[in-house]
Amino acid sequence: MTVDVIDAQRNWDVDPGWLNTASFGLPPRAGWDALQEALEQWRSGRGVWEEWQQSADTGRASFARLVGVGVEDVFAGSTVSAAMALIAASIPDGSTVLVTDIEFASNVFPWAAHADRGVTVVAAPVERLVDRIDDGIDVVAIGLVQSATGQVSDLAAVSAAARAAGALVIVDATQAVGWLPVDAGLTDACVAGTYKWLMTPRGATFGYVSPQLQELMSPLQSGWSAAVDDRYYGLEARLFEGARRYDQAPTWFTHVAAAPTLELVEAIGVEAIHRHDLALANAFRAGLGMAPGSSAIVSADVPGAEERFAAADIRASARSGRLRVSFHVYSTQADVDLALGALEGLVPRQPGSAS
Ligand SMILES: Cc1ncc(COP(=O)(O)O)c(C=O)c1O
Repeated sequence: MTVDVIDAQRNWDVDPGWLNTASFGLPPRAGWDALQEALEQWRSGRGVWEEWQQSADTGRASFARLVGVGVEDVFAGSTVSAAMALIAASIPDGSTVLVTDIEFASNVFPWAAHADRGVTVVAAPVERLVDRIDDGIDVVAIGLVQSATGQVSDLAAVSAAARAAGALVIVDATQAVGWLPVDAGLTDACVAGTYKWLMTPRGATFGYVSPQLQELMSPLQSGWSAAVDDRYYGLEARLFEGARRYDQAPTWFTHVAAAPTLELVEAIGVEAIHRHDLALANAFRAGLGMAPGSSAIVSADVPGAEERFAAADIRASARSGRLRVSFHVYSTQADVDLALGALEGLVPRQPGSAS
């Protein structure tokens, strides 16, 4: 069953002027209600943790479908940085890792931490990343959508260049999954935090790991929840087969809210959300005299915008002195009009013009 985006907006109670999903997403009623019920059960001593725990598997299955891979190759973790740390520990000594020059820290520091064993991190601009991939690169580790600028990388092109160079492709899809169709099968690992475009509380990250990469990866942070029966005590770790052996024990309440939320994203359909988000982002760009883009995140250098937004109660953010607004399933044309109205008379600075 697919749900029309405008009909689906009835699932949210968002005050006008929220343009900051790139920082955190807002819960649909199904996620919110499930969370309140679990909190009430917790408070009264009527909770059944096994049911809360089960939510992580429900969410895992949704995530696998959303990125087009088998559920057996998906692990459930906590943060992107922790997931990347697990992956980074598996690369050989002396590897060279290519990131973008505006990569978010959670996909930089975990690689840089291996400097003591000869791992080097190099960077290239998003638009020249593919040209920078050569035989000297062992790992390409990029955000699919950049959090600072909204730039969307061409995953098929990055993946083809990396494969030709014999490099691993590791993707942070945190700013993508939920609005941009993602084919994780083009990667060796594809990790996404769920608290932005998948609209859950913070605390959950899912990650696809290819069967080939799984052969190199150790379950460095696994505990009881990554193990099969009789898993609480004893010296012998009998871990699950597949990527589930990399699970971190789940943050119950985040997953309780996440499970119905990811199912709703599936029911609405990422293609429909993509069209909706992009249409609003491009309406905003047009209003500022900018050319259409390919991202739900719009970054623009508009001097004076922050003050205008604050006065109009529009919640957005600033990155490197630029305005960053983002549009998601619950955003409306009224939000676009509100934002453009607040900016009336201000002129975006063109790239390269004097500051
Ligand atoms: C691209 C990207 N990755 C990851 C994160 C969050 O990382 P972590 O889960 O390590 O806090 C963010 C948060 O802004 C982000 O923009």
